[in-house]
Amino acid sequence: MANIDLPFYHDPVMLAECLEGLNIKPNGTYGDCTLGGGGHSYAIANKLNEDGTLHAFDRDEEAVAFATKRLAGVKCKFVVHPVRFGKIGAEIEAGTLDGVLYDLGISSHQVDDSARGFTFVGNNPLDLRMDRREGVSAQEWLFKVNADDLAQALRKNADMDRAFKLATRMVEMAAAVKAEGREILPNDVKAVVESVFPDKRREVNGLLARVFQAIRMEVNGELKEIEDSLRSAVDCLKVGGRLVVMSYHSVEDRCVKETAAEFEKACICPENLPVCMCGGNHQRLKKVNRKPILPSDEEIARNSRARSAKLRIYERV
Ligand SMILES: C[S@@+](CC[C@H](N)C(=O)[O-])C[C@H]1O[C@@H](n2cnc3c(N)ncnc32)[C@H](O)[C@@H]1O
Repeated sequence: MANIDLPFYHDPVMLAECLEGLNIKPNGTYGDCTLGGGGHSYAIANKLNEDGTLHAFDRDEEAVAFATKRLAGVKCKFVVHPVRFGKIGAEIEAGTLDGVLYDLGISSHQVDDSARGFTFVGNNPLDLRMDRREGVSAQEWLFKVNADDLAQALRKNADMDRAFKLATRMVEMAAAVKAEGREILPNDVKAVVESVFPDKRREVNGLLARVFQAIRMEVNGELKEIEDSLRSAVDCLKVGGRLVVMSYHSVEDRCVKETAAEFEKACICPENLPVCMCGGNHQRLKKVNRKPILPSDEEIARNSRARSAKLRIYERV
């Protein structure tokens, strides 16, 4: 029996819809690229028998430790890959998965644990790394980034308005904080956001959340990770296998949709060719649902973190 006598970590979003999307066969082989607190993994594992296998990825060592405890004792073979999901192609053999799940973004635990520096509530220095053994913290990045690159990150990762002005003021703030010999705190970022959007005082928390999202996505290389990983996951799937991806904001969702769209095309000829020269047999994914699935009102009422979720399901053809 799996160990569920553990503290709250994360409430899995659209659990039933994800399980249905994966179309689980009891003896199949599945991947969960975003193990987190193991909510989805635990439910997948419980649908598998002794011949089934679940491969789970997470780059956050705390998530791996927690979920490994939670899944101790499940019947199926459970293989943990404590690495970035961008490495799925190196870890899993091509054509072996019956389904793979991505529940993108960060877990409630990562946000709620203020020591992790993910939240703009409180006064902890900005870190925002999912894997604190890798790369540089948000603060270190802000100390060295120039206004052009920061503005580009704000636009690309969060569709921010006034991105260059915001970036210029953020860079000035970071230089001043560094000169004072102290750490950048959430309130320093809030003061910059308020100075750039004096007309949007009521929306300041939403704007701050988007600034944090943009910095977090840059520090963790999130969009490139998603693109690279989805491309490799298509290779890892068997024909008929399912790709199930849940995103939480428009930038993530666009990245998923556009990356998958590359594999939905039968013809990959340049648009200016008058006739198809590629053979027209390149399609490797088809949509299972024409539109993304959204959480029910009941789920949103129970778990506000589900409110922006969009679930896209594809089948390998
Ligand atoms: C929304 S949570 C997943 C929650 C999980 N489905 C559950 O039910 O508990 C996303 C998790 O994915 C992990 N993650 C995000 N990007 C990752 C990446 N590129 N590689 C590996 N893990 C990643 C985060 O560390 C986090 O634990």
